[in-house]
Amino acid sequence: MTIDASSLQTRYLAALAIAREAGALAKRRFLDRSSFTVGFKGPQDFITEVDGEVERLIHARLAEIFPEDGFIGEESAGAKGGEDQPIWVVDPIDGTSNFARGTPYFCVSIACVHAGSIEIGVIYNPMLDELFSARRGAGAMLNGALISVAETAALNRATIEIGWNMRSGMQNFVALLSRIVATGAGAIRAGSGALGLAYVAAGRRDGYVENHINAWDCLAGILLVREAGGYASDFLAGQGLTKGAPIIACAPGVKQALLEAAAIEGLVL
Ligand code: IPD
Repeated sequence: MTIDASSLQTRYLAALAIAREAGALAKRRFLDRSSFTVGFKGPQDFITEVDGEVERLIHARLAEIFPEDGFIGEESAGAKGGEDQPIWVVDPIDGTSNFARGTPYFCVSIACVHAGSIEIGVIYNPMLDELFSARRGAGAMLNGALISVAETAALNRATIEIGWNMRSGMQNFVALLSRIVATGAGAIRAGSGALGLAYVAAGRRDGYVENHINAWDCLAGILLVREAGGYASDFLAGQGLTKGAPIIACAPGVKQALLEAAAIEGLVL
C-alpha cells in the first residue's frame, strides 16, 4: 500500500497528541513516587510499572486509529502490521533510570517508519512541557517553532553526549569516551538517548554518540537531527530496526572530526 502525504500528516498529528497524553500520564506517576516500584531487567537496566502502563496507552491509541500499522515498543513484543504498512517505534519512557531515581529528565519517544525511511519523529519531555517534532522534509520543531543544529565548527568548543549502556561492554564505552575527550570536547551522559538527540537538533549539544542503541531510543531523534540540518548515521541500514546499531548524530561543522575521533566499529555512514 502507498501512503500518501495526507495520511502521513494524520499520523503526525496523532503522534503529537498521543505523546502529550502519554507524557502527562508519565509525569503524574513520576510526581507520586509511592505509586510505583522500581525493578531491574538486568544490571543497570531499570524498569518500573509505569513504562508498561505508558506503552499500553500509546499502543492502544495507535491501534484504535491505525489498526493496520505495525508496532515495536521497548516493553512489549509488539505487533506485526500489514504488508507495506507504516511501523510505529515507541519508547514510552526514555531515561528510565532518571525516572526511577526521581530525576526529572525523561521523555516519551514516538517514531513512524515507512518503506525504510523515518517519516515522523516526536519526543515529549513532560516535565519541561517540551514537544520536539519532525516530519521528513518539513523541518524540526520545538513547541511549534523551527529549530536548527548548532554552528559549532571545532570539537574543542563542542559538547558531545556519549550514551552508555551495559550491552556494548564497559571497555568499549571507556575507550569511546577517552577518544572523544582527547579531542578537547566536553563530555556528557545524561541518561536519555532520545532527549540527547533532540538536544542536538535544538543546538543545545553538538553531537550524540553511542556504541549500541535501540531503535525505540533513537529513531525519532535521528529524524529531528536531520530535519534540523544535522547529520545522523544510517541507523536503519542493517538490522538497526530490530537489533539496534551504533549511532553518531551531530552538527555539520563537527561531523568529520567526530566521525574520525569516535571511530565506532560497525557504524554505517
Ligand atoms: C536507555 C537510554 C540511555 C541510552 C541507552 C538506552 P531507557 O534507554 O536512552 O541514555 O544510552 O542505550 O537503553 O532504558 O532509558 O529506555
